[in-house]
Amino acid sequence: MGETNHARSTESLAEAFKDDFLIGAAVNSRTIVSQRDLLLRHYNSLTAENEMKFERLHPAENTYTFEAADEIASFARANGFKLRGHTLVWHNQTPDWVFDDGKGGAADRETVLARMKAHIDAVVTRYQDTVYCWDVVNEAVTDGGDEWLRPSKWLHTVGEDFIAQAFRFAHEADPRAQLFYNDYNECNPGKREKIYRLVRSLLEQGVPVHGIGLQAHWNLLDPSLDDIREAIERYASLGVKLQITEMDVSMFAFDDRRTDLNDPTDEMLRLQEQRYGQFFRLFREYKGVLTGVTFWGAADDYTWLDYFPVRGRKNWPLLFDARHEPKGAYREVVKA
Ligand code: GLA
Repeated sequence: MGETNHARSTESLAEAFKDDFLIGAAVNSRTIVSQRDLLLRHYNSLTAENEMKFERLHPAENTYTFEAADEIASFARANGFKLRGHTLVWHNQTPDWVFDDGKGGAADRETVLARMKAHIDAVVTRYQDTVYCWDVVNEAVTDGGDEWLRPSKWLHTVGEDFIAQAFRFAHEADPRAQLFYNDYNECNPGKREKIYRLVRSLLEQGVPVHGIGLQAHWNLLDPSLDDIREAIERYASLGVKLQITEMDVSMFAFDDRRTDLNDPTDEMLRLQEQRYGQFFRLFREYKGVLTGVTFWGAADDYTWLDYFPVRGRKNWPLLFDARHEPKGAYREVVKA
């Protein structure tokens, strides 16, 4: 898609927040081309949507496939973007070989830890001149109930210290990188306390963790502004930096299955504008602790929420529309 007049004439989002925090977008191999002009104009930070995940970089024990990630890193370097690394240790999008003993059974703790270290060493070292922060561990906490850590192959083979080990390996590989714990449903009070407990216990053990990433996959109704403020306060009380890492504001509540819309309704757009305005006024209040706000996409022509979790349904969760024109929500954000 070519650059629009609006893309040229509207105030840059990143510029509007230059004294507050970085403004980022998740990108992939296609969108660094199709959204290039929009990215250059409005964002100053990037995250690879999938290209730096374990399964993409390291599909077999002695095979690394860096091409797509390298391309995003070069794009960032060539155009002066900051780059967030996403993500080193996660229960999803991690290949089975990591946990297999090669004889049909499960690998033991020492083998899995050695593989984790080899992966982190290779990846963090490769991008250390470009990536300034890493989501070291993603989504290790259980959503509901009393259970603390999410059951995963990492947890089962290594034990609870897989999280601390990942941070230590990342810090050894690049002592200058800022290391984040990243999670979703981060403003839900129950889950918030589990995340708080996790990061507090890491800090008490002297583990090098420098920040908490709030994914912020939010919608028109949830979470409430009060819950967001409380989460920010609670996490900030640990003395770590915070970043909003994967922000989008879905037009649909989590359990809404409707599929009848080809365009968002006026009511949806109005609510989304209101919400985005509220969020960014809040973020500005916390600019001392909040160092970046990254959207999970740059414009509504491409979002992971299209056709997910409801098949056949488009979504419009971002600040720019499918033609890369600024939405009302963009205007609310820049004046926040
Ligand atoms: C999580 C992950 C992201 C991405 C989204 C869905 O939030 O952290 O990498 O996979 O899910 O796109």
